[in-house]
Parts: sequence; structure tokens; C-alpha cells
Amino acid sequence: MSDADGMEGVEVAECTRCEALVDSRSRIVNGDGPEDAAVLFVGEAPGATEDEEGVPFVGRSGDVLDDELRDAGLARADVRITNCVRCRPPENRDPSQGELANCRPYLEREIELVDPEVVVTLGKVPGEHLLGRDVAVTSEAGSVERVELGGEPREVLICLHPAATLYDASQRDAFAATIEKAATIAGESGGQSQLGEF
Ligand code: URA
Repeated sequence: MSDADGMEGVEVAECTRCEALVDSRSRIVNGDGPEDAAVLFVGEAPGATEDEEGVPFVGRSGDVLDDELRDAGLARADVRITNCVRCRPPENRDPSQGELANCRPYLEREIELVDPEVVVTLGKVPGEHLLGRDVAVTSEAGSVERVELGGEPREVLICLHPAATLYDASQRDAFAATIEKAATIAGESGGQSQLGEF
């Protein structure tokens, strides 16, 4: 994808705003998926596999997300997936507030251009970054809040990070229920294909 596709300011080819991340990354990991997706998932930052492949959520967390999308009748190819921060932090540490702020304009522009029906935050870091408050993800998962993002008020659906289900299998049902809710919102908007054959 390039600027010619209308994703100017979203597909980042070069960025040196965060010194530590320039050193730790192999490449910048931009968002993946249709430019007009009804559902936009926002994770924290690329992990090792994403850093290698240049695509968000392609490691073990991505497998969990893919499985639950399929069970909810959504294809991964129908949703857009991105991260708060586009470069892998050293030793997978959380991105700092400065790094989140540096990368925020890319995310805002992405939200504005994709114009999704619902933004789904995957985990605590994106939840707190986009809602601008403390979030207790385990108890708040599945709730929707309206927030100004990408130039207008948007529905934000709080979701567990898929990795949480790898550490604690009992979280899987809650994760699946939130993904189903995202699929329902997208289906109600008429903007998302539902894959009956799955
Ligand atoms: N975890 C994230 O938050 N983002 C990814 O892209 C992969 C794992």
C-alpha cells in the first residue's frame, strides 16, 4: 500500500521519532487490512514475530485473534488491525508515554481514513491510551464507550489482549464474547461480510 491508495500519513515508511525504538525494531509494522473496514482492532505494539514479518498480530496472539474472528463469522481479511506503536519495543516492554504520543498522529489518521463502525482495543495499553483513563480490562471487557478519535466521536469496545487467554485459559470465553460483540456491531452497520460457510 502507498500514499497513492489514499493512506497518506498512515503507511509509515520511515520514522525516527523514538530513538529507542529505531534501535530495537527490524522494521516499522503498519496496520493491515481493508482501508474501509467496519472493525478496527488496535493492539499495543509489535512483538518479535510481527517485527520479523512486518504485519500486526501474526504470532501466537494473532492465532487466537484469528480463531475467534472465524468463530464470530468474521474473516481476518475483512477487518483492519493496527497498533498504538508501530515499532517493537526492546525486550517487549510496554511502550512509554512518549512513544505512544509520538505514534498517536499515525493512529489518529488511520482511524480517520478507515472510519470504522467500532474501534476494538486489545488489552490495557490501547484501552487506556484511547480512552484516556485507567481501564480495568478484565472487568470492563465488552463495554463500549464513545470517544473522540480520528476527528469524530467513535464507539470504542474494550477487549482483553488475546495473549491474556494464553496465560489464563479461563479468559477465552470473555475474549470470544467481545469479538462476537464486535462482529454484531459490524453486522448491524451492514459494513462487514459475514462468512456463513465458517
Ligand atoms: N501484541 C500486540 O499488541 N500487537 C501485535 O501486533 C502483536 C502482539
